[in-house]
Amino acid sequence: SAPVSQDISALEAGQMIVIEWQKKPIYVVRRTDDMLYNLSINDPILRDPESTESKQPDYAKNEYRSRDPHILVMVAVCTHLGCAPNYRPEIGVPELSTDWVGGFFCACHGSKYDLAGRVFQDVPAPRNMEIPKHKLVGNILTIGE
Ligand code: FES
Repeated sequence: SAPVSQDISALEAGQMIVIEWQKKPIYVVRRTDDMLYNLSINDPILRDPESTESKQPDYAKNEYRSRDPHILVMVAVCTHLGCAPNYRPEIGVPELSTDWVGGFFCACHGSKYDLAGRVFQDVPAPRNMEIPKHKLVGNILTIGE
């Protein structure tokens, strides 16, 4: 299907935008250095920290699940029953987890993901969220091919 392109130069550090592709919401987050650092904290409590069971292009098979570590591009479809999880980048959200360091929360049945879309162990969603094919040329992000 047709790719979509968007200039993401206005996307500020820590912010997220939503781009529609194949009738699905694609979340694009410009992750800060702190966010990248915090990703490693969660590894012991994730279901698939190495993303071996999840979908992502070969170039996103890395600890950040992205081409450019600072730019997360993710299909925002919960792998449980398909709701769009909410972006919850804050540190410490008592109702989610006292040691929450930012991620995504699916309000439908309570699945939690980190800021690379990797699912936590104690939730209904079985897999990490999908990373779509994408490329970044300067500030122009293209999703699909
Ligand atoms: Fe996300 Fe069920 S659809 S937790």
